[in-house]
Amino acid sequence: MSDTTLIEAAGLHTYYGASHVLHGIDLTLRRSETVALLGRNGMGKTTLLRSLLGLTPPRRGSLRIAGRDMASARPDRIARAGVAYVPEGRGIFPTLSVRENLLLAARPGAWNIERVLGTFPRLAQRLDHGGGQISGGEQQMLAIGRALVTNPSCILIDEATEGLAPLIARDIWATVAAIRAAGIATIVVDRNLAALSAVADRVVILAKGLTVFAGTPAELAAQPEIKHRHLGI
Ligand SMILES: Nc1ncnc2c1ncn2[C@@H]1O[C@H](COP(=O)(O)OP(=O)(O)OP(=O)(O)O)[C@@H](O)[C@H]1O
Ligand SMILES: [Mg+2]
Repeated sequence: MSDTTLIEAAGLHTYYGASHVLHGIDLTLRRSETVALLGRNGMGKTTLLRSLLGLTPPRRGSLRIAGRDMASARPDRIARAGVAYVPEGRGIFPTLSVRENLLLAARPGAWNIERVLGTFPRLAQRLDHGGGQISGGEQQMLAIGRALVTNPSCILIDEATEGLAPLIARDIWATVAAIRAAGIATIVVDRNLAALSAVADRVVILAKGLTVFAGTPAELAAQPEIKHRHLGI
């Protein structure tokens, strides 16, 4: 593994009880790289993120993060290794204020709360609102902001713009681009291939717990049958 590799997963097999969901996934995330993760419903995207985070640890396979074996590491150890998570549904604490949600997550580094508020001016106006009182778009900004204030080396974002109005989704995509420009690696799950292609260095498509495509956005654009079969577009 080269020192530009942040996450290196090989042959991941992940189960929920007896249900075998990931059937041997290989995935590499390099420093500062943005990877788009796509696939139809139920194909294993969230399960792959959860496997990398130690939330649903793989039963077989290897996982190295920043050079360390993390195949059976607990989620808190993986978080401390610099892997942040923006889960589907955002995971905001609804009864805490926006400020408290950020304060709880913050760790020393370049991304302090002021910088996050500069990135998301809307959040600055909502600091004293409850996490459960703000709009879906603001919750997503808060979830991304909360990941950023941990000063991670990478952020795994599930369903980045699901349920958001187009104008808000545009803000989220601008943020994903800003995160990339700041040198933080990301794995982003979303349905919007056009938006993902504009920000991603590479695209990975899953089907039934296997990788069926891995390549650049341009390589995917040149394969309409893959897009049709695995993304329905
Ligand atoms: N907690 C769970 N217990 C049992 N099976 C689960 C659980 N979570 C997901 N699964 C199953 O694992 C498979 C992969 O689900 P996963 O959520 O990883 O897919 P996904 O690609 O993220 O789908 P979506 O696009 O709907 O979010 C599906 O068959 C799903 O029903
Ligand atoms: Mg999912």
